[in-house]
Amino acid sequence: MNTPVDATSTEAWADLRTLRDALVPDLRHWFEADPHRADEFTFDLADLRVDLSKNLITDDVLGALVRLAEQVNLPERREAMFNGERINVTENRSVLHTALRLPRDAELTVDGQDVVADVHEVLDRMYAFADKVRSGEWTGVTGKRIETVVNIGIGGSDLGPVMVYEALLPYKQDGLECRFISNIDPNDCYEKVKDLDPTTTLFIVASKTFTTLETLTNARMARDWFLGALAEAGAVDDSDDARTDAIAKHFVAVSTALDKVADFGIDPANAFGFWDWVGGRYSVDSAVGLPVAIAIGPDGFRDFLAGFHAVDTHFRTEPAERNVPLLMGLINVWYVNFFDAHSHAVLPYAQYLHRFAAYLQQLTMESNGKSVRWDGTPVTTETGEIFWGEPGTNGQHAFYQLIHQGTRIIPADFIAVANPAHPVTDGDTDVHGLFLANFFAQTAALAFGKTAEEVRAEGTAEEIVPARVFEGNRPTTSIMAPALTPSVVGQLIALYEHITFVQGVVWGIDSFDQWGVELGKKLALEIAPAVFGDAEALAKQDPSTQSLVSWYLRNRD
Ligand code: F6P
Repeated sequence: MNTPVDATSTEAWADLRTLRDALVPDLRHWFEADPHRADEFTFDLADLRVDLSKNLITDDVLGALVRLAEQVNLPERREAMFNGERINVTENRSVLHTALRLPRDAELTVDGQDVVADVHEVLDRMYAFADKVRSGEWTGVTGKRIETVVNIGIGGSDLGPVMVYEALLPYKQDGLECRFISNIDPNDCYEKVKDLDPTTTLFIVASKTFTTLETLTNARMARDWFLGALAEAGAVDDSDDARTDAIAKHFVAVSTALDKVADFGIDPANAFGFWDWVGGRYSVDSAVGLPVAIAIGPDGFRDFLAGFHAVDTHFRTEPAERNVPLLMGLINVWYVNFFDAHSHAVLPYAQYLHRFAAYLQQLTMESNGKSVRWDGTPVTTETGEIFWGEPGTNGQHAFYQLIHQGTRIIPADFIAVANPAHPVTDGDTDVHGLFLANFFAQTAALAFGKTAEEVRAEGTAEEIVPARVFEGNRPTTSIMAPALTPSVVGQLIALYEHITFVQGVVWGIDSFDQWGVELGKKLALEIAPAVFGDAEALAKQDPSTQSLVSWYLRNRD
């Protein structure tokens, strides 16, 4: 296991410290003094137009950040990832989500295995299955075509598919709907199935490990509901054969553990595999994307993967000075480590991206929420950011106050598309234009603020002038695309995957394990008997937990 370079001991880090100490952020002046600032800091990345100019950066800062990337050996680690080296050291695994979107004619062999052939074999099976469902050739137990696909999964086996499904709703086939059950709160499953016709419903049980408590519990509940509802409708008799046949027609699985899929009772012929080198939060472009492939069809899914691949190629080959994921990751480090930024807002001005921030929360925080480096030594600086957000303009009327006038710096990424899926007007008004006017206005307001003189010039009473001043110099990145196509959604995901990677490398983190989620899972299983009334198990708990569980036992019906 190689030792990560301590970023804080590099020359570049010392340069950044000096630059930060001398820096007085002044975006108004920087734009006035350099008429080319917007052009200089705006980049094209596949279909994305990325404007970094409203960040608190100068040429010197970017230069030092790029040197930092070199001095922590980021280019070597990036190559190691793309080549399938086992950079996920705590799990001794390769990290090859980039292989999931390699074109069929690409070449990548890892440990003697032709990875590209494996990936395309599964993609071909997924596409064939998706086509059958979409055409009606795949029928349920009574011969009816599938109308509703219910994905059962959690974490990476849920957040990616649901986010992308919602983002690409305009591309969905009419007459087909997807729903997503994730939470072990039984109300989730209840609400999602209660009005469904079992004869037209297909369940996808998605779990990388096929051991996750939530998913297996939900899958069993869904199976019970399904068999009960079928029997009630008189669609199956009570025999085991009839039930097995019904499950084979209505349950498929996505997993790396195909033996466990069979144990659950799902026909292995209806299982779509992937590999341990795909992290859960990096898996929406694997078989985990099956609901998306069914909803938008194989051609749409191919475009989606091509979008990822375009960004992968850029990240791997573009010079550092123009490498957008690299620069964005480094700028995030700049804010976290030199401005004490704790959180990062992602604000899509695209309602279809309403689950994007939730998706990014797992991607970024499960990846970089770590206190030790990949060799087990403590990190040498702050790591991780809290990613959060909601679509604009809704957020403007909720939490933007804090971003504009709060005491902490909150870097924000604004995302918008030029062409809406549905260009509806309000009388003569182009509503999407009005929507985007808000997008443009917000980043300008955050960057340039409003001085006390400007507030006074509006005739504001002196005592409320301070409350109406906007300091400005609130950093933002603007990302625009022509439209929210499958390819653009793939590009956005890959962009943030690589940003996350860059931050992890600078901090010396293994961004691909997630040991921090294990303890809570284990304790839940230990506490469960107490919750079910076992006094001995209750007595083993700490006083606070005993008191809480006892209250629960007294108050439940
Ligand atoms: O909670 C941690 C985690 O392992 C995530 O990383 C993962 O995406 C999720 O659980 C679901 O895991 P699985 O796909 O194995 O059910």
